Amino acid sequence: MAQFFGEEFLHELRSRVDIVSVVEQYVTLKRSSSSSMVGLCPFHNEKTPSFHVDGQKQLFYCFGCGAGGDAITFLMKMQNMSYPEAVTFLAESVGMTVPTRDTFDSEITQLRKTILEMNKKAARFFHECLFRPEGQKALEYITRRGLSKNTLIRFGIGYSPAGWTGLYEKLREWGYKDEQIKASGLVITPQKNDGRSRIFDRFRDRVMFPIIDANGNVIGFGGRSMDPNDPAKYLNSPEVITFRKGNNLYALNYAKSTKKDCLILCEGYMDVIAMHQAGFDNAVAGLGTALTPEQGRLLKKYTDRVVLCYDNDEAGRKATQRSMQVLSSLDLNVRVLTLRGGKDPDEIIKNEGRAFFQALVDGSETGMDFRLNEIFRKYDLSIDSQRVQCSNEVFDLLASIRQDAQREIYASRAGKRLELTDETVKRELNRRLRNLERLRKKQQEKEESNKLRGVGDRINPQRMTYLRAARAEEDLISVLLAFPEKAEKIAAQLPPEEFVTDFNRRVYMALLEQIRQNPTASEPGLLLTQYFQPDEMGRIVSFISSCEAIRGDEKEILRAIEVLKEEKTKIDRRAAGGDDAFAANLERLRNKRKEAKE
Ligand code: CTP
Ligand code: MN
Repeated sequence: MAQFFGEEFLHELRSRVDIVSVVEQYVTLKRSSSSSMVGLCPFHNEKTPSFHVDGQKQLFYCFGCGAGGDAITFLMKMQNMSYPEAVTFLAESVGMTVPTRDTFDSEITQLRKTILEMNKKAARFFHECLFRPEGQKALEYITRRGLSKNTLIRFGIGYSPAGWTGLYEKLREWGYKDEQIKASGLVITPQKNDGRSRIFDRFRDRVMFPIIDANGNVIGFGGRSMDPNDPAKYLNSPEVITFRKGNNLYALNYAKSTKKDCLILCEGYMDVIAMHQAGFDNAVAGLGTALTPEQGRLLKKYTDRVVLCYDNDEAGRKATQRSMQVLSSLDLNVRVLTLRGGKDPDEIIKNEGRAFFQALVDGSETGMDFRLNEIFRKYDLSIDSQRVQCSNEVFDLLASIRQDAQREIYASRAGKRLELTDETVKRELNRRLRNLERLRKKQQEKEESNKLRGVGDRINPQRMTYLRAARAEEDLISVLLAFPEKAEKIAAQLPPEEFVTDFNRRVYMALLEQIRQNPTASEPGLLLTQYFQPDEMGRIVSFISSCEAIRGDEKEILRAIEVLKEEKTKIDRRAAGGDDAFAANLERLRNKRKEAKE
């Protein structure tokens, strides 16, 4: 088990961070007792609050879904962060510098740094080439496309020379090794007939767009060919350790500090650049077609309103539908801009000007309108059977709107379009809402009965089968949590092998190790965050909260150990007994046969 951060650092962090203020960034909390606050759980759907945050213990726990943990766990779950990411994020938020971690600074991290450094130098090289004689054609091309000198500089646009090794030779000159250069994706290594490979520049004779992440790192490149007959109009960096297309958005490094109240998501590099040049400094582009959930979460970090601005063709509309699903599941307010007056934003701004484009932005429709229109487009309403089908689809969609007022407004408008009476609209909608409600109830009942029967205890699946043993194990864990000073005594009497359920055994072992390493830590349970998944932490926190009922006296400990040993013996015997009985039966059968033969 690797220890990422030192105990001292974590201790300091825990003393500075207040879980209440961390959680309050996402959840509205009300005070419920002197040390505890409650709110609606962000990890499952609920109407009555069962999500508790304990400011004294610095823990959260949801009685509805069993989620729980400390501030680190909360961020891991809420923002989908890894453990080191969550720790770093919290440390920065309270102004602590994260220690340089020798153990953490692995080879991969080192290589990542090297590649980012190479990328930055490559970007500078390409940019310089654009203004040299060999880049003249590219400079003319990009200027003809309307980019000002300022824009070229702002976006670091460049030119990759036509030779085969211009960049590669530079990289060697700067002291990088072939292995590092290959890992950067800046070169290709085609095999020759003799099986050996040579190294060539990946990007040749292209206009270069550096892709810069929100932290200002050059993580990759897009290269635009100037030859209209080139089958690859754009060539992008391959996915290497520094570049995950689906995790990044082009121009976010600038758009993240826009003053505008939304981000505009479009398709291409040139669109984004043209938009920024025209003053729409809130434009970003996905680096491919469909928006990924990671990109959605990235958007959500900076805004709660997104305008989708895909090309007005079949592919664009499909991408809009898909992206909308990603975004609305993140609770982002989504609007859809329908392009007119050109094929893409770049063209439209050039042909019609910025005021025209601003009008398009202002006229963008809500995500719901877009989806309704997409349904209406498919049907000819003058044909009765199609009208019926259309209204079925429309009502299905309308029923999914959660807010009553919103649903009513859209329903009444859609009803008019379908030429249905208000009464029919109401009836159709109510029927679907009732069905949905019934479905939801059924689902909930199923979940609850499963919970009662212990089915689906994903944290400790053995618990229900060996309930008595599991309870004894949990009592012992609680003793360790509340009275770490008893650890050695308990450990001497009860080796981990004596535990029956695997999860509890893991907790027991990790706790013993933690207590040994940090004998003075008063809350050893909190040190487990780094070894257990956020879901597992929920269970551990429920142990911590049950500590209050623990006295930790000799009798209690002995009793738990006794129960556990008793159960363990029973289980072992049952397992062996099964086999013994079978063997005995077989023996008897054989004897009988023998007798019969004789
Ligand atoms: N794209 C790509 N590879 C291609 C074509 C397109 O990666 N072979 C990506 C690029 O990010 C591009 C976006 O898809 O910016 C949109 O493609 P397209 O509409 O074809 O290009 P435009 O952005 O209009 O580019 P241009 O204006 O330079 O023709
Ligand atoms: Mn274009």
